Amino acid sequence: MTSVTDTPAVKVPTLPDAQTVTSVKHWTDSLFSFRVTRPQSLRFRSGEFVMIGLMGDNGRPLLRAYSIASPSWDDELEFYSIKVQDGPLTSRLQHIQPGDEIILRPKPVGTLVHDALLPGKRLWFFATGTGFAPFASLLREPDTYEKYDEIIITHTCRNVAELTYGRELIESLDDDPLIGEMVAGKVRYYPTTTREESPTMGRITTLLLDGTVFRDLGIDGISADNDRAMVCGSLGFNKDMKEILEGFGLNEGANSDPKEFVVEKAFVG
Ligand code: A2P
Repeated sequence: MTSVTDTPAVKVPTLPDAQTVTSVKHWTDSLFSFRVTRPQSLRFRSGEFVMIGLMGDNGRPLLRAYSIASPSWDDELEFYSIKVQDGPLTSRLQHIQPGDEIILRPKPVGTLVHDALLPGKRLWFFATGTGFAPFASLLREPDTYEKYDEIIITHTCRNVAELTYGRELIESLDDDPLIGEMVAGKVRYYPTTTREESPTMGRITTLLLDGTVFRDLGIDGISADNDRAMVCGSLGFNKDMKEILEGFGLNEGANSDPKEFVVEKAFVG
């Protein structure tokens, strides 16, 4: 009889909940996206967020909430982030390279999910800045196209360059091997800029209130019968959009109480 004493080679992660960076793309001086390996056990609903970060100098994890920008069926996880030069996390996170490790707590949560909305015909995604991230996930989610006839995504940024991540993603949808056929002309994109010349200028809030959006898109307006909405941006934006949507007769929903619109704060800092 022989005994086996060899210990199998086990890769010990150097960080708790470590995931490996697989790619990084810098979009502007202040925006980048990156992809990491996905923990096998992680299940999430498109639109949810997780806590991610790096080990702090004090030996404690430095974590922030980040929307998962990839859809629930993707093998990897994608994130879209600002770079804040003196931000505790993003001042360091912006320098990650493929092969580096980040910390990812595999506990997804969030309200920008289909479960928090009642059935409707048309779905609006209203984003400013990196608030586009959860919609990058939902725009690649088959459920979005099964549940709605039309999807309108508005994205307001200061400059044209800040729209690029979103624009390229939207342009890639029709050719996506998995969801391209389902998308088939259902997505309408309405980008606006506030501090640089572009075809549509101004805050989306102003353009909704003065009717420009509806004239440009050739639709009557937003109603609780047909329209559902998800909002993701700064605190001020979320507050203003909530008021505007309530003015159109929509009510704010939650996972436990689905209604006509949902709101979530984009990651900052
Ligand atoms: P503005 O340039 O008029 O402030 P930020 O980079 O500050 O997060 O802003 C991202 C985009 O969101 C900017 O175009 C900004 O417009 C716009 N924005 C900021 N606050 C609001 C708000 N309360 N309502 C609508 N748009 C907003």
